[in-house]
Amino acid sequence: MLPQHANAIGTAFGGTVMSWIDICAAVSAQRHCSRVAVTASVDALDFVAPLRVGDVVVLRSWVNAAFRTSLEVECVVEREDTTTGARVLCADAKLTFVNLGPDGRPQPVPPLAPETDEERAREAAAIARRETRLAARR
Ligand SMILES: CC(C)(COP(=O)(O)OP(=O)(O)OC[C@H]1O[C@@H](n2cnc3c(N)ncnc32)[C@H](O)[C@@H]1OP(=O)(O)O)[C@@H](O)C(=O)NCCC(=O)NCCS
Repeated sequence: MLPQHANAIGTAFGGTVMSWIDICAAVSAQRHCSRVAVTASVDALDFVAPLRVGDVVVLRSWVNAAFRTSLEVECVVEREDTTTGARVLCADAKLTFVNLGPDGRPQPVPPLAPETDEERAREAAAIARRETRLAARR
């Protein structure tokens, strides 16, 4: 976190962190699809602890679930103490991306194959969130 990433009180400007989240999550989406995927929506973005100037910021993302032409990606933002390696969760977000074909239209995404209980739980939770998301859009 450099000074240009901060707000007036020296903690991260939320919009900057949101752009980092969008980039990190897009990489996961595009790795899964092997194509361009665009952000369709962002929900459940929670800032749970501050990032301060000088912090080392770590972003990690992964695909929670693949639907028909869309997929849900989760991204977590952590600050890392480089002397101990300890990390503190600062933000968590769930984003929906849509896989676009060469014609710019949505095209099917490859299926996800969860292997662990944790991955299966993440997929189930993402499916439940999608139902809520679609119901809200209707
Ligand atoms: C996202 C986008 C491609 C969807 O196009 P569309 O013609 O509405 O597509 P469809 O209605 O056929 O929906 C395609 C999929 O997108 C999903 N989707 C569309 N809008 C969504 C939204 N707001 N939130 C979550 N999912 C959405 C649908 O549920 C569907 O998913 P599924 O195939 O897995 O069931 C289109 O709205 C778009 O181009 N938006 C701008 C994206 C962009 O520019 N992002 C960069 C940041 S500004």
